Amino acid sequence: MQDENVDRTISYDFKPRLESFLAEVLIGLRKPQKELPSKYFYDERGSQLFERICELKEYYIPSIEASIMRAHIKEMVELIGPHVLVIEHGCGNCEKVHFLMDRLHDPVAFIPIDISKEQLLQVAKELDSIYPQLQVLPVCADYTSSFELPIAKQESKRTVVYFPGSTISNFDPIPAKHFLEHVANLCGSDGALLIGVDLKKDPAVLHNAYNDSEGVTAAFNLNLLERINRELDCDFQLDAFEHYAFYNPRESRVEMHLISQRRQVVHIDGETISFIKGESIWTESSYKYNLDEFEQMAAVAGFRVERVWVDERQWFSVQYLITR
Ligand code: AVJ
Repeated sequence: MQDENVDRTISYDFKPRLESFLAEVLIGLRKPQKELPSKYFYDERGSQLFERICELKEYYIPSIEASIMRAHIKEMVELIGPHVLVIEHGCGNCEKVHFLMDRLHDPVAFIPIDISKEQLLQVAKELDSIYPQLQVLPVCADYTSSFELPIAKQESKRTVVYFPGSTISNFDPIPAKHFLEHVANLCGSDGALLIGVDLKKDPAVLHNAYNDSEGVTAAFNLNLLERINRELDCDFQLDAFEHYAFYNPRESRVEMHLISQRRQVVHIDGETISFIKGESIWTESSYKYNLDEFEQMAAVAGFRVERVWVDERQWFSVQYLITR
């Protein structure tokens, strides 16, 4: 019998390493304002918890984005055109890209990029069988680091980067601009970026979205410590930290923190990290934009905003940017 695992491999495997996880955790915990990088939320349990967040009524992003996609997909597909190469940074389970891929005109190739190799292999196999005409070239990498991309067999008319879900929100302003610059370079001339961007709105709405009544976001936040305990042999007391999330209007971002409930110490890699009561570890920023601000940042990075779609309350936007 043929093993379907045999002919499906990762195109490029940049082997995101445990050493860099430890190094980044140590750098963050040594800072006066302790912090941990939010990209490490997404281990297996973290990804499951994030999927549950996406089903919460309070977490408005996925449902609004999906409705914008449904309402305007025809126009999006027309703007993108036929025979394109699609790239997705941090594709996760690739759930969202199907809606686009199913409607594009003869896409040539798809490069899903993700840090999780197992999920990426799984997803690549699924895509192979759903889209036999499409060349799927998975890349395992931390997409915030630098890496090369595979070359597709068939030439494409245009490179389109798909970056849904407002993942851009996790980048601080300067890294966000750098990421957009990097994407503009990847796309080359006549390239495009289809991106979901969360917008400024009533802070009470934002507060509820990151302080859900079922405590899923709190569990998602705390899971980061659980992951560090497990993978880096550390001894965080999970019940001695509490989820705290709020909108910071001055910086236009929701901040998530974990607050130490008492004076305590944590051991990691032979180092002792001490906490005073009430001290926080800053675990995530989620920046909220208005349309002008985003347009300006995109322009500096080399993109022109060609088209913006929003919902009737203007809570979220999907934007089509082209390189210029
Ligand atoms: C995946 C970055 C868009 O910032 O809203 C959800 C992550 N954190 N709830 C966001 C998240 C807490 C999410 N992004």
